[in-house]
Amino acid sequence: MTDSPAPAAAISPFPVDAVRARFPALARAAPFIYFDNAAGAQAPGVVLDTVAAHLLDFNVQRGGRYPKSQAVDRMIDATRAKVAAWLGGDDPDEVAFGMNATSFMRLVSLALGQTITAPRDEIVVTDMDHHANISTWLELAKTSAKIVWWRMREDQRLHVEDLIPLLSGRTRLVACTVVSHALGSRVDVASVAQAAHAVGAEVFLDCVHYSPHALIDVKAWDCDYLVCSGYKAFAPHMGFLWGKRAALERLPTFREEFIPDAPPHKIEAGTFIFENVAGMSAAIDYFEALGAELDSGASTLRARLVAAMTGIEAHERDLSRAMLEVFASVGATVYGVASANAVHLRVPTFTFNLPGKLPADVSQGLADAGIGARDGHMYAPRLMERLGLPLETGAVRASLVHYNTTAEIDRFATVLRDLAS
Ligand SMILES: Cc1ncc(COP(=O)(O)O)c(C=O)c1O
Repeated sequence: MTDSPAPAAAISPFPVDAVRARFPALARAAPFIYFDNAAGAQAPGVVLDTVAAHLLDFNVQRGGRYPKSQAVDRMIDATRAKVAAWLGGDDPDEVAFGMNATSFMRLVSLALGQTITAPRDEIVVTDMDHHANISTWLELAKTSAKIVWWRMREDQRLHVEDLIPLLSGRTRLVACTVVSHALGSRVDVASVAQAAHAVGAEVFLDCVHYSPHALIDVKAWDCDYLVCSGYKAFAPHMGFLWGKRAALERLPTFREEFIPDAPPHKIEAGTFIFENVAGMSAAIDYFEALGAELDSGASTLRARLVAAMTGIEAHERDLSRAMLEVFASVGATVYGVASANAVHLRVPTFTFNLPGKLPADVSQGLADAGIGARDGHMYAPRLMERLGLPLETGAVRASLVHYNTTAEIDRFATVLRDLAS
């Protein structure tokens, strides 16, 4: 990612009406507007059907000799392969399933904590991240690690030029987000990995907020670990960790003695929620179908997923431009990238305040008008401090995804104008 606009042209016009028709929850809730997608997105019908079908016909433990149990094993294996394709990896065993992103951050930090020794004992964290990807690393400072802060600039973006002088032969790991769940600002994670690897350090990426918005490419980014949450990406509540095979092999994780000491099993203590893994698989089927519609020439699963995520990204840039115009028209303070010419540096997640108004009142006013947004600290106390915002009040966040429309933004604009006056 560079500061100049990268091409994110849709291969054909983005079929937002057809997309919305695939999400029964949107029609059921209408005219309610979902602008709280950063807290969890809606699921397409294929996900609902797949979860229900799993519970009806395959609600059994894996690893048995009977057909239903073997079908569960096959579903888990197939989902690993699909998730690997969605991430741009090619080894399904590099994907481990579990409850959520936070627990995987903890799992990796607890494991790395056991291996950290001086002089390579520094962990770089940022003041822009969700607290989950800060606090778990700060815990290690009580024992083995030293924490180094990579701070945002006044433009409320993380610049890799500021990271480079923080790195040395002492750096063990850089932990950062791919995009801010509060500001929507993107991070040039490929350059982060390049800089970290140049000094022999590893990179842990929080991809939770990025995953519904644009293409993930673990090979191009060359990260070592990456976590996602299904419920942010149109699947049910579940999480997964991707890691380079060699990195996962090195991790000293907890497992019962009879579990193979190899990925993915050494990462997956206990039983995870199979029906939600089936739902994640269906969410990728949804992306694949969208990609086939956008690019009929895409001949592989990865090519169709690339088409889907490229189309989504292009549509979301239009949404970002429209939202920024609304904020400018009501004199709102937008944190993060606020120029309509720089929407390639952000996703359509907006944290803002209206002059002289309490965030809770704005968020309540939106709720009363049938628009679901959110106010508060967004689980990012250090970010709030950097923005000069009190933790108790914070800011308002309106977060959009590809099923949102410019018509919804028009209604949001009308309500916001009333609230601002
Ligand atoms: C950027 C980011 N990281 C981490 C998390 C935590 O994810 P989970 O709820 O899956 O633990 C969230 C949740 O909102 C998030 O937005």
